[in-house]
Amino acid sequence: MTDKTRAETRRGFLTRAILVWVGMIAAPLIYGILRYLTVPSDNQGQNPVILAGKLSDIPDFTTGAKLIKFNRKAVFVYKNSQNQVKALSAVCTHLGCIVGYQVQDHDFKCNCHGSVFDLDGKNIGGPAPKPLPPYRVEIKDDNVYLHQD
Ligand code: FES
Repeated sequence: MTDKTRAETRRGFLTRAILVWVGMIAAPLIYGILRYLTVPSDNQGQNPVILAGKLSDIPDFTTGAKLIKFNRKAVFVYKNSQNQVKALSAVCTHLGCIVGYQVQDHDFKCNCHGSVFDLDGKNIGGPAPKPLPPYRVEIKDDNVYLHQD
């Protein structure tokens, strides 16, 4: 093998190796960008109902609120002062930050701009223009289900 042939072979190998390496890096990026840009159809990945857990797993409002995901949205589930299970969207109605439950104050607070919501989801402070939307709760055989409607 001549020096020229050996150099071309080495150059070809390095070129292919670099292309494979670039492809391995670019493929997930391109996939992610396409997924981000593609608008899902209305019902894609949307469940009309979800199991939030066992009734005994739902915390009382004095101890906390369970944060779950329902159709890619954050939802708080808890028992109120009448021991009823309630579910509220955890998405602030101001600009969409996720609110947090304040055990000591028994309310939901948004750390982005300071909105506060009471246990019924009513906006009681800050710039939030609307209450936190509720979810319909159904209890069946000790299981707690949330409905999208
Ligand atoms: Fe919650 Fe602004 S996003 S107060």
